Amino acid sequence: MELPSGLMAALKNAEKVLMLTGAGMSAESGVPTFRDAQTGLWEKFRAEDLATPEAFRAHPQLVWDWYTERRNKIRHVSPHAGHFALVEMEQYFETLLLVTQNVDSLHQLAGSTEVIELHGNIMLSICSETGQQIDDRWIRTEPGRPPRSPHHPQGLARPAVVWFGEELPAGSMKRATAEALSCDVCFSIGTSTLVQPAASLPFIALDSGAIVIEINPNPTALSSKAHFSLQTTAAEVLPTIAADLAGRK
Ligand code: OAD
Repeated sequence: MELPSGLMAALKNAEKVLMLTGAGMSAESGVPTFRDAQTGLWEKFRAEDLATPEAFRAHPQLVWDWYTERRNKIRHVSPHAGHFALVEMEQYFETLLLVTQNVDSLHQLAGSTEVIELHGNIMLSICSETGQQIDDRWIRTEPGRPPRSPHHPQGLARPAVVWFGEELPAGSMKRATAEALSCDVCFSIGTSTLVQPAASLPFIALDSGAIVIEINPNPTALSSKAHFSLQTTAAEVLPTIAADLAGRK
């Protein structure tokens, strides 16, 4: 795809870059986007209704099994060219902070230096009562779906993800907001820009005078406000941007 010339000029002059990514970033690695994830057994449930503390309290086995299926999928996927392009782009800016809503570790696997995981990490487990992390060996050997927690008599193991209505990891949003307020360029990649507070970040950047670039094959609430709205996929366009930067910076 031909890149708008204004976009590359903005990147050439940028020193601080913020990258917000969402489920669409992982789609080309084979991880279904959050709102497309309901296939097969899960068709009759809305993802939004399973990803809540109330659902876990009422139906711990159902929620645990849903996450087990998602974990099993994620174990077998790898980063794509778009993830690697983001790693490559780090060298061209003074700072490049990656803030992701994804819980699949694909940015870290690709080699991104610093990743803020706003919504936690699906491969880790924590105690439902204390929030303490539970060792993976315990999860593999302890019977039960979910296994009981070693940290509390009433505790159960649950995935270390942020559910609807729960707080984001301490400090993560504060750091991301500070970056949104001070960055020169903010990318919003593969996110429906629906779930707060993450969705506010590109709008904060816009209001603070940053150039905002959206990458999403489908329009979102951000599309008409962003300086550049690239209606394409992450794996398609990010390597082109990285290659163009290599020639310019
Ligand atoms: P969504 O599933 O809401 O949106 C995915 C977005 O990616 C959509 O706008 C798609 O058009 C776009 N998309 C699909 N394929 C793409 C591709 N190859 N390249 C680029 N974009 C593509 O996912 P999120 O916005 O990440 O949180 O959802 C935010 C949060 O909602 C999730 O982190 C999850 C859920 O609540 C929690 O579980 C706390």
